[in-house]
Amino acid sequence: MKASVEAVTSINLSRYDVAPDKSISHRCAMFALLAEGESRIENFLRAEDTFNTLRIVEQLGAQVTDDGKIITILSKGIQETSEILDCGNSGTGMRLFCGLLSSAEGHFILTGDEYLKRRPMKRVTQPLRDIGARLDGRNNGDLAPLSIRGASLKAFNYESKIASAQVKSAMILAALRSDGVCTYWEPELSRDHTERMLKGMGARIEVDGLTTKVWPLEAPLSPLVIRVPADPSSAFFFAVAAAITPNSSAVLEGVTLNPTRIEAFKVLERMGADISYTVTDERYEPIGTITVKSAALKAVVVEENISWLIDELPALSIAMACAQGQSIIKNAEELRVKESDRIKTVVDNLNLCGIATEEYLDGYAVNGGTLHKACVNSYGDHRIAMSFLIAGLRCGMEVEDVECINTSFPNFFELLGQCTKVTF
Ligand code: S3P
Repeated sequence: MKASVEAVTSINLSRYDVAPDKSISHRCAMFALLAEGESRIENFLRAEDTFNTLRIVEQLGAQVTDDGKIITILSKGIQETSEILDCGNSGTGMRLFCGLLSSAEGHFILTGDEYLKRRPMKRVTQPLRDIGARLDGRNNGDLAPLSIRGASLKAFNYESKIASAQVKSAMILAALRSDGVCTYWEPELSRDHTERMLKGMGARIEVDGLTTKVWPLEAPLSPLVIRVPADPSSAFFFAVAAAITPNSSAVLEGVTLNPTRIEAFKVLERMGADISYTVTDERYEPIGTITVKSAALKAVVVEENISWLIDELPALSIAMACAQGQSIIKNAEELRVKESDRIKTVVDNLNLCGIATEEYLDGYAVNGGTLHKACVNSYGDHRIAMSFLIAGLRCGMEVEDVECINTSFPNFFELLGQCTKVTF
């Protein structure tokens, strides 16, 4: 399906109902499997990726109820199933389930859609195999479908080469059911929802800088009682919309203000946007309101804390296209293995919109200029689709293949429709 948007002269968004956080929603469903008693999750992300995870949790034996507002999960321990567990488009789903199922009794098959089946899994299957997990897949365990036969896992001291919350979380989940105290080191702090949530549920986890120490569980965890905050990665599309449109503002409420998640807003601030943050709540993480006002944007170099803004780089690139001067993104080779090769898909689409770029192995440069209306492809990647629809607020845009937006932000078009005319 193709979506077209029209250019606008200003937008003012308030009381905006941004989608609940995807990372936290996945974790709520999975971690409830480790709890004794009923977990209660309010504001769970009702999108394809997270519903796939929830279905898998049910297939693994948990009792799931949904009254439309609160999802409850009652675990009976992880049970073997005759079903193939389909993670859809979600790398988080597949990689975290690898960690969780490596020590479960039984045999499990994880699969995904055509995009997920092309994404690298060795980053979790190898360290898990090294501690005794029996995991396999195509290309010697790198590509799904993956087969897992639960085994007893050895304690580990693992130094990861990449700053990846998915790898860290998979290893923490394995550590909880290993035979001793484990340590995990990462080169740069990646998002830390797993540590915060599992600690809140009673797990013994100590974080010291880049090192995480995990003790095996001696008893089941306490159930989760949580309201999932809004997703800063989803909110960021509308932050960029407000920043690039003259005389505009966006008030984004109930968003997690976890520092490992709001770095893209900090970069937008460095570019000149007027942004403020107000903490209104604290539950596992700080939660609050982000207010963004437009301003003339200037170019920026992004080369640090990349894992804190990796998901927002496509949308940030639209702000870069509207800024004065050349912006540069470096140290972001991870972009190549996301839902699409986001270095290539961003650069190709910006070029179609008349913006000059330079492509590097680990990033790209964007020469700020005037965006022109074009017909671009999403390449099946939700964040590429949404980024270029937001660019369309400046110049009009046609984006092909927008169904993928349902993986993370089901009410995106409803919110976009409050800014401009959208046609399909
Ligand atoms: C996620 C971690 C990040 C991020 C992804 C969600 C998570 O991936 O890009 O969208 O929920 O743990 P990596 O950990 O692979 O960097």
